[in-house]
Amino acid sequence: MHRTAILVAGLAGVLLSGCGQVSTKTTAEADVSNGPTVAAATDIDAGRYLVRIGGCNDCHTPQYAMTGGAQPPESEWLKGSTEGHTGPWGTSYGKNLRLTAAGHSEDEWVHLLETGDSLPPMPWPSVRAMSEADKRNVYRYIKSLPGDPGQPAPAPLPPSAAARPAAAPAT
Ligand code: HEC
Repeated sequence: MHRTAILVAGLAGVLLSGCGQVSTKTTAEADVSNGPTVAAATDIDAGRYLVRIGGCNDCHTPQYAMTGGAQPPESEWLKGSTEGHTGPWGTSYGKNLRLTAAGHSEDEWVHLLETGDSLPPMPWPSVRAMSEADKRNVYRYIKSLPGDPGQPAPAPLPPSAAARPAAAPAT
């Protein structure tokens, strides 16, 4: 009986590791039938890569694109920014994407990224152009970020209102 249990456990292990290999291989090979997509060992790695090269942190993480200060660690990424973007539209703030992801199912997130059209300088044309698989990987990555999701970013201001000053870079 004991031996059987070990055998079964061993077999399950082989099967599980086999499954692991298959799913890793599938991700790495990347199913491009619905458009180009990033290949990575896991969906979360793909999402992290897309967030980094997509510049999402530049506007959705304070201090990220500032020169002269220490870059925030990943534990602080995408919590929204108090750095205002002022133009003819008024002043907008990169929203807290952790809260956005928390408030949307994955399908709702895909729909938001497909149809999004809010204030500049959010690069909606670029984000809308992401393949569905990439949109899903970005969502899975954001949902995987640990720790306190932070507070909502300030609400946008109309063109006439004065922007609140951006936080000074950390020294
Ligand atoms: C150049 C600055 C900038 C960059 C780069 C940027 N964003 Fe944004 N994003 C914004 C701003 C500003 C808003 C808020 C617009 C508003 O208030 O109407 C926003 C809003 C959003 C929203 C809507 C959130 C909500 O709750 O309504 C999503 C989703 C989003 N961005 C995703 C992304 C992703 C994903 C990336 C990277 C691929 C990205 N953004 C890169 C500036 C940026």
